[in-house]
This record gives sequence, structure tokens and C-alpha cells, in this order.
Amino acid sequence: MELLYEGKGKRLFATNNPDEVIAFFKDDLTAFNAQKKSSEEGKGKLNCAITTLLFELLQSHGIATHFVRKHSENEIVCKRVQIIPIEVVVRNVATGSLTKRLGVREGTILNELVEFYYKNDSLGDPLINDEHALLLGCVPHTNLLEQLRKEARAVNAILTPFFAKRNLRLIDFKLEFGLDSGNALLLADEITPDSCRFWDATSNEKLDKDRFREDLGNVKMAYEEVLSRILS
Ligand code: TMP
Ligand code: ASP
Repeated sequence: MELLYEGKGKRLFATNNPDEVIAFFKDDLTAFNAQKKSSEEGKGKLNCAITTLLFELLQSHGIATHFVRKHSENEIVCKRVQIIPIEVVVRNVATGSLTKRLGVREGTILNELVEFYYKNDSLGDPLINDEHALLLGCVPHTNLLEQLRKEARAVNAILTPFFAKRNLRLIDFKLEFGLDSGNALLLADEITPDSCRFWDATSNEKLDKDRFREDLGNVKMAYEEVLSRILS
């Protein structure tokens, strides 16, 4: 298979169908714009399983996504899209870069705060506003930015109660979107413990990539726990 693109967490391959690609989930773990690197055997399979279940869930609730089907333990088939270079972050609880940047107290409950980051590794994915997004040509018009916010909130409205039923708090998460060959907006990339923060609702134990970022140990166990709660 022809390698189309290699990112920090996945490789994208061409298929015989020009409208579809295969995403392979790697075991690599990176943080802080890849300044910190490691790998965790089996993480790729866990993320592939988790993203499959969550995309299926979202699709069953009417969210348009790039997900087509699971292909193997580490691979999914997706629709080929042109990725919009904006990372859409939804925050329900203050932590991470928000607390560092603005001094908001860790754990503060937020009213679904949506942020845009410019997806650009050499710039370190800076926070941007709508005018920056237009200046940078990330989107052709402001309507699409409104649509990104609306879709991101719709995803939050499905995922937050889904995880709450499984005793997990969805603290924050990052989404990416793309446009397909017919210019339809599709939720793309992945939804995994690499791209979300999950805290156990009883103990507030972190069950996501913060275990790696903060050297808390038991990274794989946390991802396994998230998968088993999704399946429960
Ligand atoms: P942050 O607090 O570091 O800005 O992260 C917010 C959310 O976005 C968190 O769930 C982790 C996720 N995220 C990514 O998926 N990729 C990234 O490059 C960054 C910085 C955050
Ligand atoms: N995902 C980013 C990286 O790999 C940053 C992070 O998640 O901390 O560098």
C-alpha cells in the first residue's frame, strides 16, 4: 500500500478506492509537540478499537464522520478528506494549557468552551481566533468556523453523557474535521485517550495520555480501562 502521510500517531495509506484511505494506529506516544517520545506496545490496537466504537456511536446519532469500517486490529478504512488545519478543542473542565495560559483554577467547571488551534507543528499549534483562521486560509469563510463549533458541541453533547454513564468525566478533547470530494464537512482523525482527557468520576484518576505526559505510569492500563468502560 502506498504511504500517503505519516503523523505522530497514525500512518495513512492509499487503497484501490480513490475516495478511501486506511489509517494505521501506531504504538508511538508523543507529547509536547513530540519533544517527549515513547511507545507502548498494544496502544495502537486499543486506540483503533476505541476510535471505531466512538465513531460508530457518533454516526448512529447523526454526526457525519470519515469512518467507514474497521479493517484490522490496527487499521480503519476512512473516507479521503482534505483536513482543515484547525484543531477544535472542547473543554468541560479546566486543566492543561487553559490553566497554564489563563491561570484558571484546575478543575473549574466550564460551559463547553470551544477553542481553535492552528494545526502547524513548526509553530507548535498556536491558539487562534476566527480572524486568524481566515487570515491563514484555514477555511474559505466564517460560516465554516461556526459549523465547526456547532459540530464540536454536538459531539460533546453525545460523548459527555455516554461517558458519564460509564463513570468517566470527559474533561476535554480535540477534534479534526475534513472536507470530502463533494465538499461535505466530516469529523475526521481519531477520538482516543491520546486526543481526549478522561477522569474517573469517583476518584478523578486520570485515564488518558496525561499519564504519559506527567509520568504517572500505567499508560496502557488506562487505555484498556477506557475501552472496557466503553464496552460496558
Ligand atoms: P491542552 O490542554 O494541552 O491544550 O489539550 C486540550 C485537549 O486537546 C486534550 O484533551 C488533549 C488534546 N490535544 C491533542 O489531542 N493534541 C494536541 O496536540 C494537544 C496540544 C492537545
Ligand atoms: N499530541 C501532541 C504531540 O504529540 C501534544 C500533546 O498531546 O501533548 O506532540
